[in-house]
Amino acid sequence: MFLPILFIFSLLPFSHSAVQDFCVGDLALPDTPAGYPCKKPAKVTVNDFVYSALGVAGNTSNLIKAAVTPAFVTQFPGLNGLGLSLARLDLAVDGVVPMHTHPGASEVLFVLEGTICAGFISSTDNVVYFQALNKGDIMIFPQGLLHFQINSGEGVAIAIVSFSSPSPGLQITDFALFGNNLPTELVVKTTFLDEAQVKKLKGVLGGTG
Ligand SMILES: *[C@@H]1O[C@H](CO)[C@@H](O)[C@H](O)[C@H]1NC(C)=O
Repeated sequence: MFLPILFIFSLLPFSHSAVQDFCVGDLALPDTPAGYPCKKPAKVTVNDFVYSALGVAGNTSNLIKAAVTPAFVTQFPGLNGLGLSLARLDLAVDGVVPMHTHPGASEVLFVLEGTICAGFISSTDNVVYFQALNKGDIMIFPQGLLHFQINSGEGVAIAIVSFSSPSPGLQITDFALFGNNLPTELVVKTTFLDEAQVKKLKGVLGGTG
């Protein structure tokens, strides 16, 4: 009884000086590679650690019939410096999150409702790992790899995705390739697609040139 208590007290001075419990991001200051500077601890309240937006379905009335509702550091500054974040994914019937990457994070997807065909492609030899996921299934998407999610069921699908960074980043490949102003002839050269197809995709995805 006596010894363990002494042991705990001997640790206290160290834990006090070495551990910073949290660093709620001050979004008024510039982001840095290590995250946002910390809000002054005296100004932190429980509201910095609670975020309620993920209970509401995102608006899927769009081209991809899908909505990602993020709880990343810019929406939820309490995550700053903690190495994780979350988002809600809503997929209407025929909805898809097209091939995309998160440059800054690995992802775990947890299916809450419906059926989602999801997969990723390895970077070393382009092996595809994909499967239809049902309610309760989880799947991993390693950092930086191309991946996708398709609603392959009859009704809506809902998932929660968690990331190993407060700022996972998102680049959707089709928007990156065709939603820009790179001249069509250069897109043709760099994708091996026909000019007509490139012009069509630029039109659909908001590109010019
Ligand atoms: C959903 O988005 C569409 C297209 O932007 C818009 O017309 C519609 O009003 C939105 N619906 C809701 C409920 O916000």
